[in-house]
Amino acid sequence: MSATAAALVPERPTLPKLREAAAGCQACELWRTGTQTVFGEGPRRARLLLVGEQPGDREDREGHPFVGPAGRLLDEALEEAGIARADVYLTNIVKHFRWKAQAGKGGKRIHAKPNAEHVEACRPWLEAELAVVRPELVVPLGATAAQGLLGRSFRVTRERGQVHERDGVRYVATVHPSSILRAGERRAAQRADFVDDLRRVRALLA
Ligand code: URA
Repeated sequence: MSATAAALVPERPTLPKLREAAAGCQACELWRTGTQTVFGEGPRRARLLLVGEQPGDREDREGHPFVGPAGRLLDEALEEAGIARADVYLTNIVKHFRWKAQAGKGGKRIHAKPNAEHVEACRPWLEAELAVVRPELVVPLGATAAQGLLGRSFRVTRERGQVHERDGVRYVATVHPSSILRAGERRAAQRADFVDDLRRVRALLA
């Protein structure tokens, strides 16, 4: 079996201790090409925890989750749904940026999807965040987070917006905001569906 971050998780974890330990994580090879570990952020007792895929280019440089274009869309959608970002714990299932260089000179860093080994290597960090925050509701954003948390056969297209219960925690998966940014002429409709899913999430916490 490949290495995971399990041995690095402090015995009595708190969010600051986890963040500090995760900063030195080398459980998979992504630390070599990423700038830094991008750990989750938000209130320790958040009722709602959102899980993205991995930090993007901006997040990798700045060290905070969802601060780039997808984060902006997420912020706006949360606001429209009546959810305050400040009340939400935001994290990613993989905490280093996986990228490839765009072909050609001076190529930009292009997002590359993390694979199952990256997800498994990083899983202990998310499990520890869940154990400390103990949210009532977890929202995986997109297929990587949804399948990592709800099983490989989970299909966001089919099961988005539905409530799944695991170990006393409710999960409601939806699309990843980046997929809306790439949706072209379907962008407005997909954005509206995303806000609807978040409204459902808010209603579940009412
Ligand atoms: N996409 C993600 O999945 N997470 C981020 O933090 C930013 C973009």
